[in-house]
Amino acid sequence: MSHRGAAIDVRELTVRFEDVLALDSVSLSVDAGEFVTVVGPSGCGKTTLLRSVGGLQSPTGGEISVDGAAPESAQAAGELGVVFQSQTLFPWKTALENVTFLRELAGREPEPDRARQRLVAAGLGDAVDAYPRELSGGMRQRVAIVRAMHLGASTLLMDEPFGELDELTRYDMAASLLDSWRDTDRTVLFVTHSVPEAVLLGDRVVVMADSPGRIVDRVPVALSRPRDEATMDTAAFADQVAEIRQVLRQNRPAEPDR
Ligand SMILES: Nc1ncnc2c1ncn2[C@@H]1O[C@H](COP(=O)(O)OP(=O)(O)OP(=O)(O)O)[C@@H](O)[C@H]1O
Ligand SMILES: [Mg+2]
Repeated sequence: MSHRGAAIDVRELTVRFEDVLALDSVSLSVDAGEFVTVVGPSGCGKTTLLRSVGGLQSPTGGEISVDGAAPESAQAAGELGVVFQSQTLFPWKTALENVTFLRELAGREPEPDRARQRLVAAGLGDAVDAYPRELSGGMRQRVAIVRAMHLGASTLLMDEPFGELDELTRYDMAASLLDSWRDTDRTVLFVTHSVPEAVLLGDRVVVMADSPGRIVDRVPVALSRPRDEATMDTAAFADQVAEIRQVLRQNRPAEPDR
């Protein structure tokens, strides 16, 4: 994987579901090769934003371009590696076949040896030939992440990819995602509920609020790279986390009267 990640441009994106304004005129530019993380309360439209950028949700209003083209064409060209909250592995294929099959669908060599290495590196050495029904939720999630990495897409859209993982595995997966991102020029748009994870990974943290779903702040992360576990022990890291939590608190709707 050597080609550069796409630049993503979201302009005044509005998505309405009947009476719910899931996204209200959201604008966001992600540079080619940038790692942008997104945080915000449940229901603020994070998944809707990612699905829209992935060409899986049509906007009610506004425009999205991925390297100047419609998201659907980037998706069709195999340039978007997508990991969603609920993992949709092919149930009739093993872990390894799931990882290689997506590449084949995109017209690329399946590279099974490399796929196997990636699964082993993700702690799935014993699960290579297992079917999804035989795996735990966290294992399925890791297969889906490996599959997106192996696709060779220039741009990754990840929706809480580590949500079902235990603390240590979560950190390991984050570290390997950072390694792989550093070695390539991928663009990453990454949703998480964990503010520390957003700060560890991101060049910028986009903070959203709900009712209606919107972006309320974009916080540049002023921490040098490479970042690792030691980064998380620094005062600068704690300050960034506190700053973002403050923004989230300020934009929390008032409790209804009881
Ligand atoms: N297909 C749909 N039909 C109707 N309403 C929807 C649909 N998808 C999302 N919504 C609504 O749009 C809003 C935003 O949903 P979305 O899934 O984008 O939130 P989210 O920020 O990803 O939340 P979470 O953190 O819980 O995953 C919610 O109010 C949700 O109920
Ligand atoms: Mg979601």
